[in-house]
Amino acid sequence: MKLPIFAANWKMFHGPSDARAFMKNFLVHYPRQHDRKVLFFPNALSVTTVSELIRERPDLETGIQNIHWEDKGAFTGENSAPMARDAGASHVLVGHSERRHVFGETDAQTNLKVKAAFRAGLTPVLCVGELLAERDAGDTEATVLRQLRAGIDGVDEAQVASMMFAYEPVWAIGTGRTATPDDASTVHAAISAALKTAIGERALGIPILYGGSVNRGNATSLLAAPDVDGVLVGGASLDADGWNAIVRA
Ligand code: 13P
Repeated sequence: MKLPIFAANWKMFHGPSDARAFMKNFLVHYPRQHDRKVLFFPNALSVTTVSELIRERPDLETGIQNIHWEDKGAFTGENSAPMARDAGASHVLVGHSERRHVFGETDAQTNLKVKAAFRAGLTPVLCVGELLAERDAGDTEATVLRQLRAGIDGVDEAQVASMMFAYEPVWAIGTGRTATPDDASTVHAAISAALKTAIGERALGIPILYGGSVNRGNATSLLAAPDVDGVLVGGASLDADGWNAIVRA
């Protein structure tokens, strides 16, 4: 059985001091739960702070929001997968819509990043999602599946089986507009089917998260939708009390 996953993407919020204050508050009010997993994707500068504070909590894990595809080198300003691992990260977001659409990250780069993550022992969470124009043109599934196939191209099947995926429709990110549970289910089912075609029955254990304006009011209904195995939350994960309410959904 897949445990539901609650992932917080703090984006460019919460530096080390804020991250420490958040976690201290959250840890007091959120005792260990065995029936769900909670993942934090802090800003890169706060990964060590968060990972050190949750060391005694196997139900909580830390990831990094982005990595470079090289392990080291002259790449000013970048973070590598081995460095993220050393800082305490176990997961990495790859191909988040802001990486793709604000920073111009390509499908080919997401593929290199997935491979870099595995080299370092990080679990990649490959994010896929269509723009509003792609949805309006009826291209949702084609876009999402193109991103998915490119992201896992040449990746070993056992590694694909250990990944996570996140469907984040771009038009729903930070807009207050959420996909309906039915919309999410339809796309998640297509992702699930594509993964099954790629790697067979092993795909059944792969978690597929939904992200895009998830909040304490809609998390329960989205999680109840078929094929939705968890949520990836931006804005509503920034406040410790609000996040606590979501992870108890
Ligand atoms: P919001 O929850 O703020 O819409 O952000 C979603 C997201 O991008 C999570 O990765």
